[in-house]
Amino acid sequence: MAGSRNANTISAAVFHRHLVIGVVATFFALFPGKFMAAEAAPADKLSDGDKSCLGCHGTEGMQKDLGGGKLLSLHVAGDDFAKSVHGANGCASCHADIDLNSHPQKTKNISSSREYSIAMAKVCAGCHAEAQNESETSIHATLLAKGKQSAPVCTDCHGSHSVTPKTAYDTCVGCHNAAMDAHAKWLPNAGLHLEVVSCAACHAPTAQRMVDLRLYDGAAKKWVSEKEGLPQFEKWARAADTDANGLDALELRKLMAQINHDPAQPEKTLRGRIELRTAVQAHQLSDKANAIRDCASCHRQGAEPFQNVSISIVSADGRPLRHKAQKEVLSSALSVDSLREFYAVGGTRSTLLDILLVLATLGGLSVPIGHQILKRIVQKQLEREAQAKPDERGGA
Ligand code: HEC
Ligand code: HEC
Ligand code: HEC
Ligand code: HEC
Ligand code: HEC
Ligand code: HEC
Ligand code: HEC
Repeated sequence: MAGSRNANTISAAVFHRHLVIGVVATFFALFPGKFMAAEAAPADKLSDGDKSCLGCHGTEGMQKDLGGGKLLSLHVAGDDFAKSVHGANGCASCHADIDLNSHPQKTKNISSSREYSIAMAKVCAGCHAEAQNESETSIHATLLAKGKQSAPVCTDCHGSHSVTPKTAYDTCVGCHNAAMDAHAKWLPNAGLHLEVVSCAACHAPTAQRMVDLRLYDGAAKKWVSEKEGLPQFEKWARAADTDANGLDALELRKLMAQINHDPAQPEKTLRGRIELRTAVQAHQLSDKANAIRDCASCHRQGAEPFQNVSISIVSADGRPLRHKAQKEVLSSALSVDSLREFYAVGGTRSTLLDILLVLATLGGLSVPIGHQILKRIVQKQLEREAQAKPDERGGA
């Protein structure tokens, strides 16, 4: 991208020439304070070229009149950009076509901000070929190709100037809020499923799934997250995994004991989630007819997601930090204590549970009540199982 570096080498003289012409001068006159604010803190570490772009585009309220009453916002928040995953890449890495010698071109023809977004999102593919390939056959891309302009492109789920690794699933609900209730028509306890099964685990049927056992605070009823600046989980998990082949049940037990070493702190357990093994496969979204609805995909001995297991904590940036575990941890009596929040999946261990699940499903309405009782029966059975195998406890 040799040409793209033009932006970084523009001289102060050129910049100032541009400053005094065009719309922009008015903005500085109107919002001098805002201009200063845009130059503060995180954006300070940006290159001079980027700062010159922000000299104009850091101005809040800056916009282009597309005609017919339509406007395109031209404001870019410098601080957000600097903190984004692309901060170090610089503006020119996506705007290679902009040459400050001829910019801004008053004549640039943009018919609507939606069309501009769709066209601009193509720059992402230049560096993220895999995500692009996985997306090409997705239901959204298919609908877009058929003319459905509201179907999301890369930037609708990830943003354009403030992209962070934070999970993009939140955005699904933003557009599909109305569809959430529809799940309850066929899925018992849909709320629980939507909480512990990622959208793509069902809507990307061609992707590979896994069980992610995530640290959970049962008393506060929330996922535990790693404190900023105190990354202990990975260190402890690595130390516990003595042969570095994934945590086995005994190693997991030791890790949990270490995590819960302070009795004054609320006890942490593990709660299972069904997620994708590779995040990028989240782009293989199918139409709804092909989404997974077969209960046995998860609620069956030896089901596909249960062949791969990880232990995780939510990191400070919102992404899970994972450490591999052996799949046997799900069925081992040694894990009973720490897995008691994760009891209801036939894929784990209990045949009794499978039978009860079928009954509950057939029973329909009795599901919520049935499961409280079920939970207790299964808990008892597992405790018995645990006591019946003292040999496995050796050394714990
Ligand atoms: C002198 C002020 C100024 C500077 C410096 C400036 N821009 Fe602009 N930019 C504008 C104005 C004004 C427009 C709207 C032009 C129009 O009305 O068509 C614009 C439009 C844009 C657009 C909208 C689409 C287009 O191409 O017209 C993009 C993208 C853009 N600028 C990116 C950048 C980048 C990247 C830089 C730094 C390399 C930069 N600008 C530097 C004033 C500036
Ligand atoms: C990771 C790629 C990427 C980087 C880096 C990037 N942009 Fe953009 N930019 C985009 C995309 C994509 C759009 C279209 C935005 C949309 O869909 O609304 C865009 C749009 C714009 C626009 C038009 C107004 C708007 O927000 O839609 C301006 C102005 C602009 N960028 C300036 C900048 C400046 C200044 C920088 C550096 C501080 C920068 N961009 C860095 C991808 C990028
Ligand atoms: C010039 C190359 C380049 C372009 C163009 C680009 N990216 Fe990136 N992107 C990167 C790099 C490099 C990283 C890794 C940063 C890191 O790991 O900290 C990244 C990281 C990401 C991540 C975080 C991935 C993770 O680890 O979770 C997302 C999401 C992302 N980009 C989306 C986009 C989107 C959306 C666009 C288009 C608006 C885009 N990228 C355009 C280079 C690019
Ligand atoms: C419908 C919403 C949606 C669209 C559209 C979308 N993504 Fe994603 N993207 C996601 C989700 C969800 C994830 C997984 C996030 C997670 O699990 O951490 C993801 C993950 C990513 C990652 C990180 C992958 C990794 O290995 O960690 C990158 C990079 C990325 N997307 C880029 C893109 C690009 C480029 C496009 C456009 C071609 C795009 N995305 C379109 C939702 C979307
Ligand atoms: C920016 C808005 C937006 C976002 C974000 C978004 N979608 Fe969509 N999605 C749409 C639109 C629009 C359609 C087409 C709906 C229609 O045709 O009625 C669609 C269609 C779908 C369909 C197909 C429904 C059918 O009738 O077959 C599924 C499934 C879907 N989206 C799932 C997801 C998932 C999962 C995510 C998050 C990873 C997501 N969407 C993110 C806007 C969005
Ligand atoms: C347990 C699997 C599963 C999970 C988890 C799941 N879905 Fe679905 N979803 C389905 C199935 C199956 C259908 C098709 C139902 C039908 O045909 O009536 C569907 C239908 C949809 C539809 C179309 C609704 C309509 O209008 O008929 C959308 C949109 C959608 N889901 C989005 C999401 C989003 C967003 C998430 C995450 C918050 C999610 N789903 C989580 C299985 C799931
Ligand atoms: C993609 C995997 C997946 C699919 C498909 C799936 N489930 Fe689940 N189900 C789960 C997970 C994960 C849990 C939560 C386990 C836990 O937290 O202990 C769960 C929990 C349950 C529960 C217990 C809810 C409670 O009240 O505690 C019932 C009942 C259930 N599922 C029935 C079904 C039925 C019936 C279907 C098919 C219509 C189905 N599930 C499809 C993964 C799935």
